[in-house]
Amino acid sequence: MNFATLLPFLAAFPSMVPAAALSPPNLFNISVATAEYGKSIIQCWQLTTPPSLATIGSGSFESQSLGKAQAVSINFFPAGLSFGLHPAPVVQWVVVLSGSTKVYLQNQTDEADTVFTSAGKNGVLLAADTADISPLGHVTETVEETVMLFMSTANGTVPEHTVLHNKACAGEDLV
Ligand SMILES: *[C@@H]1O[C@H](CO)[C@@H](O)[C@H](O)[C@H]1NC(C)=O
Ligand SMILES: *[C@@H]1O[C@H](CO)[C@@H](O)[C@H](O)[C@H]1NC(C)=O
Ligand SMILES: *[C@@H]1O[C@H](CO)[C@@H](O)[C@H](O)[C@H]1NC(C)=O
Repeated sequence: MNFATLLPFLAAFPSMVPAAALSPPNLFNISVATAEYGKSIIQCWQLTTPPSLATIGSGSFESQSLGKAQAVSINFFPAGLSFGLHPAPVVQWVVVLSGSTKVYLQNQTDEADTVFTSAGKNGVLLAADTADISPLGHVTETVEETVMLFMSTANGTVPEHTVLHNKACAGEDLV
């Protein structure tokens, strides 16, 4: 493709200009498997730590801290794998790198209690319903062949947050 054929393409994307500074910061929301009264529930949390403008070399970009990690692994799953009912093994960030997953509660048929996660900006969820607070846990399934990054938080720390609402983040929560 020569430059002349690229021109109409560039004209169609006027947003391809350098990003402005963050003002005001839009706090990051994530769906979380947590627990209440000994049973897993799904909630939408807003992280207290705001995103910041980070710079590496001459590039500036928006960065959201997820805190310190204990261990990090990249994990490969076939399509249609069910983990069955299980508590989170540790408090961990789950980042979908490719494919998609479904996280839901046993005995809970409300669609809003199901978190569908696929790769992208909203491809992050937190599994915090460890056995000490939810002996039975939640159900996780892969919808298709999926690759996920697991990052346990340092010392099992739960990130500072406010609870936006029960059930998965949706609509306005995920702009
Ligand atoms: C779902 O319901 C069954 C039957 O009442 C019960 O045995 C099971 O513990 C429930 N599961 C959860 C996660 O509460
Ligand atoms: C984790 O716990 C150890 C031992 O108590 C402590 O030295 C370390 O600073 C803690 N790390 C974080 C990130 O809180
Ligand atoms: C987080 O959710 C709030 C309330 O729904 C919304 O105003 C805000 O834009 C969301 N933040 C992001 C980064 O999507």
